[in-house]
Amino acid sequence: MRTRFIVGNWKMNKTATEAVAFVHRLKQELPSVEGIQVGFTPPFTALHATRDALASNPAFLLGAQNLHWEEKGAFTGEVSGPMLKDLGCEFVLVGHSERRQHFGDQDTWTNRKVLAALRHGLRPILCVGETLQERDSEHTDAVIERQLRAGLVGVDDQGLAAVTIAYEPVWAIGTGRAATPQQAVLVHRMIRRIIGELGGADRVQQLRILYGGSVTPQNIADFLSFEEIDGALVGGACLDPLSFATLVRVA
Ligand code: G3P
Repeated sequence: MRTRFIVGNWKMNKTATEAVAFVHRLKQELPSVEGIQVGFTPPFTALHATRDALASNPAFLLGAQNLHWEEKGAFTGEVSGPMLKDLGCEFVLVGHSERRQHFGDQDTWTNRKVLAALRHGLRPILCVGETLQERDSEHTDAVIERQLRAGLVGVDDQGLAAVTIAYEPVWAIGTGRAATPQQAVLVHRMIRRIIGELGGADRVQQLRILYGGSVTPQNIADFLSFEEIDGALVGGACLDPLSFATLVRVA
């Protein structure tokens, strides 16, 4: 049985002060959380404050939205794995479609970031997903397979054990038009099959695959009613503490 994992990706939202207020309100709504993991990826500037505010509940995990693959050096504006680890991050998003679309994170960079995360003891959540045009032209499977295999080059069986995959169709992100659970399940099955080819049977069993794209407190139960879907990567619906608390409670 895999533990469900709900991750709230704040993207470029919330100052450190707002982050603390959010966490305090969330904790009032969710005084105890058991049997599920809940992750938060604040902006870099709010990581420290969020970590301190979250403290004391082992179900809450701190993560980052991105990292650079180098450890340190002359890379103005970048943040490295050891810096995130030192702040208490346990996981990091890699290859989010917004990074791929707007900031040039192509497959080779994504792969370097996955490897850097693993090197520094951070669990990568590798994000994959097709655009609407790719879906309409029936290239979904090929795109997901390419992103997956390219992102995981050089990751050994032990490394794979620390990896989570998030399937986020680009056309479903922030649009209010979620994929149907059935559409997500088909892709999740394919992802699991590919991971089976890259690693052993244990990896297939352990691998958590999250769905992301217009997940709400209203539709989360539909997604989680399928055993192929181990949790969700949530954007818009994670920004309000009441909405996110409801979503976690349903999950
Ligand atoms: O990383 C989460 C995300 O991209 C989904 O965003 O707003 O569609 O839930 P949203």
